[in-house]
Amino acid sequence: MITGDANNNVTDHIFEKIGHNLHKRPDHPLGIIKSVIEDYFDETFGKDTFTSFDDLYPVVTTFANFDSVLVPPDHVSRSANDTYYVDAENVLRCHTSAHQLEMLKDGATKFLVTGDVYRRDSIDATHFPVFHQMEGVRVFEKEEWESKGVEAVDLARDELRTTLEGLARHLFGDVEMRWVDAYFPFTEPSMELEIFFKGEWLEVLGCGVMEMQILEEAGLGDKRAWAFGLGLERLAMVLFDVPDIRLFWSDDKRFTKQFEAGMFKAGGVDMRKFKPYSKYPPCLKDVSFWLPENAEDGTNLFSENNLCEVVRDAAGSLVEEVKLIDEFENKKKGLTSNCFRIVYRSMERSLTDEEINAIQEKVRENMVSKLGVELR
Ligand code: DAH
Repeated sequence: MITGDANNNVTDHIFEKIGHNLHKRPDHPLGIIKSVIEDYFDETFGKDTFTSFDDLYPVVTTFANFDSVLVPPDHVSRSANDTYYVDAENVLRCHTSAHQLEMLKDGATKFLVTGDVYRRDSIDATHFPVFHQMEGVRVFEKEEWESKGVEAVDLARDELRTTLEGLARHLFGDVEMRWVDAYFPFTEPSMELEIFFKGEWLEVLGCGVMEMQILEEAGLGDKRAWAFGLGLERLAMVLFDVPDIRLFWSDDKRFTKQFEAGMFKAGGVDMRKFKPYSKYPPCLKDVSFWLPENAEDGTNLFSENNLCEVVRDAAGSLVEEVKLIDEFENKKKGLTSNCFRIVYRSMERSLTDEEINAIQEKVRENMVSKLGVELR
């Protein structure tokens, strides 16, 4: 815990991740993808036209994380179930969009922000509570749309699309792409870019034309802007064939030695991919329990995210997956039973029965004391 504050839900396992800055290591797959994207912006707009920021501190105010980008007061992302709160007014940022307003206020008009972001979430091979995003923003002056005789929003949207289609080609090579309408509180219109890669449609990024309210707040009410956000792990996993998101945190030489700055080739064509080394065996534990009854306001102490946090707190990165495998209702008792399977596996070594039993025991105890479940 960072503080003794009643609102604090940051576990030690999460707190320890702050400051690792994987995206700043030139030989790390996340650092490599970051540089490739920065290079694309240098090539497309001219060197250093876009300023890169990659050391903004991940603890931000709830104002920056939510209000400054117009996230509505009742949005689920504000709940302690989805977001890590340091105290009532400060959170671990859940997206790099948290920095849009402050950067604009500081006078930046073309910039990229890369950083670690934190979300309470389910546990599997593609989800980790800490991951990395890159945000891009570009502000237009009035002369730019007036000299072209077009509407500001059209100019912004068209340049946004061309720029990001170019970025997708820079990363994935000559692939099929499509734009899908989306919703984000901070942009209108909003859209997502998908590419057809290895047989399936893959969402690459979200973007849109920035809401005027944000620009007005920054004192830029006479301008227009576009913005985008993307997840680096997602891209690195598909481009380098990395099968498990936890590997990005591994210091195992068999992982780290396979990557070096400058190795990237668009679409991974003719590029050395990650060669998986043999995995250590998993250890499976099932846990069955009755869910607690709902509180008067309809909420329940138990949620899948809360369970995942309890497991992470006890197991750290030894947990590979937490999944619901059975659910039924006992009408007579008026209770619901769940059975979850927890898969433990280390990326680096064999696990012993004793250590997993001890972890599982702690998980079971905390499920009772923190989540109010009745074990079966
Ligand atoms: N913040 C969004 C997310 O975390 C990503 C995003 C979407 C950023 C659209 C943007 C944007 O700047 O315009 O899912």
